[in-house]
Amino acid sequence: MSSVNNLVKLSILLLAVTFVHSDMDVAEESRIIGGQFAAPGQFPHQVSLQLNGRHHCGGSLISDTMIVTAAHCTMGQNPGQMKAIVGTNDLSAGNGQTFNIAQFIIHPRYNPQSQDFDMSLIKLSSPVPMGGAVQTIQLADSDSNYAADTMAMISGFGAINQNLQLPNRLKFAQVQLWSRDYCNSQNIPGLTDRMVCAGHPSGQVSSCQGDSGGPLTVDGKLFGVVSWGFGCGAKGRPAMYTYVGALRSWIKQNANV
Ligand code: ARG
Repeated sequence: MSSVNNLVKLSILLLAVTFVHSDMDVAEESRIIGGQFAAPGQFPHQVSLQLNGRHHCGGSLISDTMIVTAAHCTMGQNPGQMKAIVGTNDLSAGNGQTFNIAQFIIHPRYNPQSQDFDMSLIKLSSPVPMGGAVQTIQLADSDSNYAADTMAMISGFGAINQNLQLPNRLKFAQVQLWSRDYCNSQNIPGLTDRMVCAGHPSGQVSSCQGDSGGPLTVDGKLFGVVSWGFGCGAKGRPAMYTYVGALRSWIKQNANV
Protein backbone atom coordinates (compact mmCIF):
# COMPACT_ATOMS: atom_id res chain seq x y z
CA MET A 1 0.00 0.00 0.00
CA SER A 2 1.61 3.23 -1.09
CA SER A 3 1.83 6.12 1.32
CA VAL A 4 0.13 8.33 -1.27
CA ASN A 5 -2.83 6.01 -1.21
CA ASN A 6 -2.87 6.01 2.55
CA LEU A 7 -2.73 9.79 2.52
CA VAL A 8 -5.70 9.91 0.18
CA LYS A 9 -7.64 7.61 2.47
CA LEU A 10 -6.68 9.60 5.54
CA SER A 11 -7.78 12.79 3.81
CA ILE A 12 -11.08 11.21 2.87
CA LEU A 13 -11.56 10.13 6.46
CA LEU A 14 -10.68 13.59 7.78
CA LEU A 15 -13.03 15.22 5.28
CA ALA A 16 -15.79 12.89 6.35
CA VAL A 17 -15.13 13.62 10.01
CA THR A 18 -15.00 17.36 9.38
CA PHE A 19 -18.04 17.83 7.20
CA VAL A 20 -20.57 15.22 8.11
CA HIS A 21 -22.02 15.82 11.52
CA SER A 22 -23.19 12.26 12.06
CA ASP A 23 -19.62 11.15 11.46
CA MET A 24 -18.12 13.39 14.13
CA ASP A 25 -17.75 10.35 16.35
CA VAL A 26 -16.01 8.29 13.69
CA ALA A 27 -12.60 8.60 15.26
CA GLU A 28 -13.69 7.34 18.65
CA GLU A 29 -15.95 4.63 17.32
CA SER A 30 -13.51 3.21 14.81
CA ARG A 31 -12.54 -0.34 15.66
CA ILE A 32 -11.32 -3.21 13.57
CA ILE A 33 -13.08 -6.26 12.72
CA GLY A 34 -14.60 -7.27 15.98
CA GLY A 35 -15.38 -10.81 14.91
CA GLN A 36 -13.48 -13.79 16.25
CA PHE A 37 -10.26 -15.69 15.88
CA ALA A 38 -10.46 -18.54 13.38
CA ALA A 39 -9.90 -22.18 14.24
CA PRO A 40 -7.23 -24.18 12.38
CA GLY A 41 -8.51 -25.15 8.93
CA GLN A 42 -11.62 -22.98 9.17
CA PHE A 43 -10.57 -20.86 6.16
CA PRO A 44 -8.48 -23.32 4.12
CA HIS A 45 -8.42 -20.95 1.11
CA GLN A 46 -6.94 -18.04 3.12
CA VAL A 47 -3.47 -16.91 2.05
CA SER A 48 -1.03 -14.56 3.78
CA LEU A 49 1.06 -12.66 1.24
CA GLN A 50 4.37 -11.79 2.82
CA LEU A 51 6.62 -9.00 1.67
CA ASN A 52 10.20 -9.35 2.81
CA GLY A 53 9.05 -11.73 5.52
CA ARG A 54 6.18 -9.65 6.88
CA HIS A 55 2.44 -10.03 6.38
CA HIS A 56 1.40 -7.62 3.64
CA CYS A 57 -1.99 -8.68 2.27
CA GLY A 58 -4.49 -11.49 2.14
CA GLY A 59 -5.46 -13.67 -0.80
CA SER A 60 -7.59 -16.66 -1.73
CA LEU A 61 -6.42 -19.92 -3.25
CA ILE A 62 -8.50 -20.66 -6.38
CA SER A 63 -6.37 -23.49 -7.83
CA ASP A 64 -3.18 -25.26 -6.82
CA THR A 65 -1.11 -22.56 -8.52
CA MET A 66 -3.36 -19.49 -8.53
CA ILE A 67 -4.28 -16.93 -5.88
CA VAL A 68 -6.76 -14.07 -6.22
CA THR A 69 -5.80 -10.88 -4.41
CA ALA A 70 -6.16 -7.10 -4.82
CA ALA A 71 -4.19 -5.24 -7.49
CA HIS A 72 -3.06 -2.69 -4.89
CA CYS A 73 -1.32 -5.58 -3.08
CA THR A 74 0.89 -6.54 -6.04
CA MET A 75 1.21 -3.27 -8.00
CA GLY A 76 4.78 -1.97 -7.89
CA GLN A 77 6.03 -5.05 -6.05
CA ASN A 78 8.59 -7.59 -7.15
CA PRO A 79 7.35 -11.21 -7.20
CA GLY A 80 10.79 -12.28 -5.95
CA GLN A 81 10.23 -10.36 -2.73
CA MET A 82 6.80 -11.78 -2.03
CA LYS A 83 5.88 -15.21 -0.72
CA ALA A 84 2.54 -16.89 -0.11
CA ILE A 85 1.81 -18.77 3.09
CA VAL A 86 -1.11 -21.20 3.12
CA GLY A 87 -2.56 -23.67 5.59
CA THR A 88 -2.22 -21.76 8.85
CA ASN A 89 -4.37 -19.62 11.12
CA ASP A 90 -1.34 -18.48 13.13
CA LEU A 91 1.57 -16.86 11.33
CA SER A 92 3.82 -17.09 14.38
CA ALA A 93 3.27 -20.85 14.77
CA GLY A 94 5.34 -21.74 11.72
CA ASN A 95 2.95 -24.51 10.66
CA GLY A 96 2.03 -22.97 7.31
CA GLN A 97 3.48 -23.86 3.93
CA THR A 98 5.43 -21.16 2.12
CA PHE A 99 5.49 -20.80 -1.68
CA ASN A 100 7.50 -18.69 -4.08
CA ILE A 101 5.73 -16.53 -6.61
CA ALA A 102 6.32 -16.84 -10.35
CA GLN A 103 4.19 -14.00 -11.67
CA PHE A 104 1.71 -11.25 -10.90
CA ILE A 105 -1.16 -10.78 -13.35
CA ILE A 106 -2.62 -7.38 -12.49
CA HIS A 107 -5.93 -6.42 -14.06
CA PRO A 108 -4.96 -4.20 -17.01
CA ARG A 109 -7.69 -1.71 -16.14
CA TYR A 110 -6.70 -1.34 -12.48
CA ASN A 111 -6.84 2.33 -11.51
CA PRO A 112 -4.79 3.18 -8.39
CA GLN A 113 -6.63 6.49 -7.93
CA SER A 114 -10.19 5.16 -7.96
CA GLN A 115 -9.34 1.54 -7.00
CA ASP A 116 -11.49 0.45 -9.93
CA PHE A 117 -10.66 -3.11 -11.11
CA ASP A 118 -8.69 -3.77 -7.90
CA MET A 119 -7.82 -7.36 -8.70
CA SER A 120 -4.65 -9.34 -9.31
CA LEU A 121 -3.85 -12.98 -9.85
CA ILE A 122 -0.72 -14.51 -8.39
CA LYS A 123 0.83 -17.52 -10.05
CA LEU A 124 2.88 -19.70 -7.71
CA SER A 125 6.20 -21.23 -8.74
CA SER A 126 5.08 -24.70 -7.69
CA PRO A 127 1.71 -26.30 -6.99
CA VAL A 128 0.26 -26.36 -3.48
CA PRO A 129 -0.61 -29.86 -2.23
CA MET A 130 -4.31 -29.75 -1.39
CA GLY A 131 -5.82 -31.29 1.69
CA GLY A 132 -6.43 -30.67 5.37
CA ALA A 133 -6.06 -26.98 6.15
CA VAL A 134 -5.40 -26.14 2.48
CA GLN A 135 -8.28 -26.03 -0.02
CA THR A 136 -9.34 -23.89 -2.95
CA ILE A 137 -12.45 -21.75 -2.84
CA GLN A 138 -15.02 -21.65 -5.60
CA LEU A 139 -15.55 -18.36 -7.37
CA ALA A 140 -18.95 -16.71 -7.50
CA ASP A 141 -20.65 -16.82 -10.89
CA SER A 142 -20.41 -14.07 -13.44
CA ASP A 143 -22.75 -11.20 -12.47
CA SER A 144 -23.91 -13.11 -9.39
CA ASN A 145 -25.96 -10.93 -7.13
CA TYR A 146 -27.54 -11.01 -3.70
CA ALA A 147 -30.24 -9.01 -2.01
CA ALA A 148 -29.20 -6.14 0.23
CA ASP A 149 -28.45 -7.27 3.79
CA THR A 150 -27.31 -10.75 2.73
CA MET A 151 -24.70 -11.93 5.22
CA ALA A 152 -21.13 -12.31 3.99
CA MET A 153 -18.00 -13.63 5.67
CA ILE A 154 -14.69 -11.81 5.74
CA SER A 155 -11.38 -13.13 7.05
CA GLY A 156 -7.86 -11.82 7.37
CA PHE A 157 -4.62 -11.38 9.25
CA GLY A 158 -5.12 -7.59 9.14
CA ALA A 159 -5.06 -4.99 11.87
CA ILE A 160 -7.24 -5.49 14.92
CA ASN A 161 -7.08 -1.98 16.35
CA GLN A 162 -6.51 1.70 15.60
CA ASN A 163 -2.76 1.36 16.01
CA LEU A 164 -2.90 -0.98 13.04
CA GLN A 165 -1.42 -3.72 15.17
CA LEU A 166 -1.22 -7.05 13.32
CA PRO A 167 -2.41 -10.03 15.36
CA ASN A 168 -0.55 -12.79 13.46
CA ARG A 169 -3.68 -14.84 14.02
CA LEU A 170 -6.46 -15.15 11.48
CA LYS A 171 -9.74 -13.44 12.33
CA PHE A 172 -13.15 -13.60 10.70
CA ALA A 173 -16.40 -11.72 10.93
CA GLN A 174 -19.81 -11.51 9.35
CA VAL A 175 -20.83 -8.35 7.55
CA GLN A 176 -23.88 -7.42 5.45
CA LEU A 177 -23.86 -6.65 1.76
CA TRP A 178 -25.20 -3.12 1.44
CA SER A 179 -27.00 -1.75 -1.59
CA ARG A 180 -25.26 0.40 -4.17
CA ASP A 181 -27.78 3.19 -3.53
CA TYR A 182 -27.11 3.16 0.20
CA CYS A 183 -23.34 3.12 -0.27
CA ASN A 184 -23.32 5.87 -2.85
CA SER A 185 -25.41 8.00 -0.52
CA GLN A 186 -22.70 7.64 2.14
CA ASN A 187 -20.46 10.04 0.20
CA ILE A 188 -18.49 7.24 -1.37
CA PRO A 189 -16.51 8.79 -4.19
CA GLY A 190 -17.18 6.57 -7.13
CA LEU A 191 -18.46 3.16 -6.17
CA THR A 192 -17.98 1.55 -9.57
CA ASP A 193 -19.59 -1.53 -11.11
CA ARG A 194 -16.45 -3.46 -10.16
CA MET A 195 -17.08 -2.83 -6.46
CA VAL A 196 -19.52 -4.10 -3.89
CA CYS A 197 -19.83 -2.63 -0.44
CA ALA A 198 -20.51 -4.25 2.88
CA GLY A 199 -20.65 -3.23 6.48
CA HIS A 200 -22.03 -3.96 9.89
CA PRO A 201 -24.90 -2.08 11.53
CA SER A 202 -22.85 -1.50 14.68
CA GLY A 203 -19.99 -0.04 12.68
CA GLN A 204 -17.66 -2.04 14.87
CA VAL A 205 -17.04 -4.95 12.56
CA SER A 206 -14.92 -4.37 9.49
CA SER A 207 -11.98 -5.27 7.35
CA CYS A 208 -8.86 -3.19 8.00
CA GLN A 209 -5.25 -2.59 6.88
CA GLY A 210 -3.62 -5.92 6.07
CA ASP A 211 -6.91 -7.62 5.18
CA SER A 212 -6.70 -6.30 1.63
CA GLY A 213 -6.73 -8.89 -1.09
CA GLY A 214 -8.44 -11.37 1.20
CA PRO A 215 -11.81 -13.05 0.79
CA LEU A 216 -15.39 -11.96 1.25
CA THR A 217 -17.52 -15.03 0.75
CA VAL A 218 -21.24 -15.61 0.39
CA ASP A 219 -22.63 -19.15 0.44
CA GLY A 220 -19.06 -20.43 0.58
CA LYS A 221 -18.05 -18.79 -2.70
CA LEU A 222 -15.62 -15.94 -3.30
CA PHE A 223 -17.86 -12.94 -3.96
CA GLY A 224 -15.54 -10.05 -3.06
CA VAL A 225 -11.90 -9.14 -2.47
CA VAL A 226 -11.00 -6.71 0.35
CA SER A 227 -10.17 -3.43 -1.41
CA TRP A 228 -10.61 -0.14 0.47
CA GLY A 229 -12.58 1.73 3.10
CA PHE A 230 -12.85 4.72 5.38
CA GLY A 231 -10.78 3.99 8.42
CA CYS A 232 -11.83 0.63 9.82
CA GLY A 233 -15.31 0.15 11.13
CA ALA A 234 -16.83 3.61 11.27
CA LYS A 235 -20.53 3.58 12.05
CA GLY A 236 -22.69 3.59 8.93
CA ARG A 237 -19.61 3.42 6.74
CA PRO A 238 -19.23 0.50 4.38
CA ALA A 239 -15.98 -1.10 3.29
CA MET A 240 -15.45 -1.72 -0.40
CA TYR A 241 -14.70 -5.07 -2.01
CA THR A 242 -13.75 -5.86 -5.59
CA TYR A 243 -16.78 -7.50 -7.20
CA VAL A 244 -15.72 -10.96 -8.38
CA GLY A 245 -18.87 -11.37 -10.51
CA ALA A 246 -17.81 -8.43 -12.70
CA LEU A 247 -14.31 -9.84 -13.26
CA ARG A 248 -15.25 -13.49 -13.47
CA SER A 249 -14.46 -13.88 -17.18
CA TRP A 250 -11.08 -12.12 -16.79
CA ILE A 251 -10.22 -14.64 -14.04
CA LYS A 252 -11.31 -17.50 -16.29
CA GLN A 253 -9.15 -16.23 -19.14
CA ASN A 254 -6.07 -15.66 -17.03
CA ALA A 255 -6.21 -18.37 -14.37
CA ASN A 256 -8.23 -20.92 -16.31
CA VAL A 257 -10.46 -21.35 -13.25
N1 ARG B 1 -6.59 -1.33 1.62
C1 ARG B 1 -6.26 -1.87 2.91
C2 ARG B 1 -5.14 -2.88 2.85
O1 ARG B 1 -4.23 -2.67 2.09
C3 ARG B 1 -7.43 -2.35 3.68
C4 ARG B 1 -8.74 -2.35 3.01
C5 ARG B 1 -9.86 -2.52 3.94
N2 ARG B 1 -10.01 -1.31 4.69
C6 ARG B 1 -11.12 -0.99 5.30
N3 ARG B 1 -11.13 0.12 5.96
N4 ARG B 1 -12.15 -1.73 5.26
O2 ARG B 1 -5.06 -3.83 3.59
